[in-house]
Parts: sequence; C-alpha cells; structure tokens
Amino acid sequence: MKFESAIRGRRSIRRFKPDAVPQELIREILDEARWSPSWANTQAWNIYVVSGKTLERLKDAGKAPNQREAPAGPDFRMPREWPPHLAARTRQLFDLRSAFAPGPTGPAEFFGAPCVLFFAAEKGLANDYVLFDGGLIVQSVCLAAHDKGLGSCIMAMAVRDPDTLRELLPRAADKKFVIGVALGYPDNEAAINRFERQRAQLDEFVTWAR
Ligand SMILES: Cc1cc2nc3c(=O)[nH]c(=O)nc-3n(C[C@H](O)[C@H](O)[C@H](O)COP(=O)(O)O)c2cc1C
Repeated sequence: MKFESAIRGRRSIRRFKPDAVPQELIREILDEARWSPSWANTQAWNIYVVSGKTLERLKDAGKAPNQREAPAGPDFRMPREWPPHLAARTRQLFDLRSAFAPGPTGPAEFFGAPCVLFFAAEKGLANDYVLFDGGLIVQSVCLAAHDKGLGSCIMAMAVRDPDTLRELLPRAADKKFVIGVALGYPDNEAAINRFERQRAQLDEFVTWAR
C-alpha cells in the first residue's frame, strides 16, 4: 500500500465483523510497529493482546460497572474542557457520527472487535514522553493493521477502568494503562465506517517562519 493511501485510508472503525484475527497477523503488525521511534530508544511500551475468554471477561466487567466503593478512574486524566475552537471540532465529529449507529455492541464492547490491544507503561514512569512514545507506536499499529486489511479504533474509553485491567490481565499489576485499540476486520458497508471525516486546514495550525 502506498503511504498516502495508508495515512488517508486509515480511519476509526466502529463496527467490526466477528471474524477472529489470526495471531500470526497480529504478530506481523506488532513486529512492524516495534520500529516506531521513542525517547532515546527507551521503547517503554507494553502491549497486551486480548481476545477470546479474557476479552469476554473484560466486557462482562464493563457491563457491571465498577463495584468498588471509590473507583479510581483512568490512570491518565481524560480531558474534559477544551477551548472553543477545539471543542467545535469535537462537536462537528459528534454531529457527523450521531447520524450513524456504531456496532450493535457499542463502545462498551469495543464495537464488536474480536481483539483489543491495550497499551501500558510501567507504573513508576511518570513521564509525559512515555505517553508521546505510546502515541507513536499506536499510530504505527493502526497503519500496519490498515495495510493488512484490518480496521482499528483507538479508544480512551477502553482504559477507563484500569483496576479491572490490572486484575484480569497477566503481568499487569505494576502497569498504568494508556489506551486501548480495538482491532478486527472492518464492516466496510456500515455507514458508521464510511462517513466523510473532517480535518482542519493547514492554515489553521501551521506557521511558516522564513
Ligand atoms: C487518544 C485517542 C482516544 C480516542 N478515544 C476514542 C474512544 O474512546 N472512542 C471512539 O469511538 N473513538 C476514539 N478515538 C478516535 C477519534 O475519535 C478519531 O481518531 C478522530 O475522530 C479522527 O477520526 P479518524 O480516526 O476516523 O480519522 C480516540 C482517538 C485518540 C487519538
């Protein structure tokens, strides 16, 4: 796939087919994505590939909202307030999206994706660049997945209850969860996967200084 088709053709998929993704294909994607850059080559990312019974358990936990007395909330604060010019872009997205139904299962069930990747950092690493580097490998994963005919949706919603992730996933007790990525074969007929997306014009965010 040409670079331009990859970067422009990737989009957030919110309705997946139920077909399982072969483990070998996921391995290939991760093997390509591991060449992402990171701060001084630290590669401080940890990736959990979750499917099958473990994914079902996670979904069940999501249906019975956090029973803890004081749910901790996400490991990384989610932004609530945006300045008006940025909030307007989100409003535009929600207006566009609201016309189309997402996967029958919705975000709580990862739009029906048969696999979800969770990206985590070691708990002690309170460094913003860990998040920055996480973003780089997540984009690489999404582009590599698209190149192989898979769809993805980056999901902050997937890590809103990190205590449950720490409980259910192996070797996760000492991790902070950054983001989830739903992964699977896209339902390319579904309108929610086809609406025309918007982007700001270059003049809105590029400054040339000659
Ligand atoms: C950090 C981050 C968190 C996101 N969380 C969610 C989410 O929880 N649910 C969702 O449906 N989309 C989520 N998205 C997808 C964005 O809405 C999407 O990338 C944006 O609207 C641009 O659309 P596109 O990915 O189709 O090009 C997230 C994207 C990023 C980068």
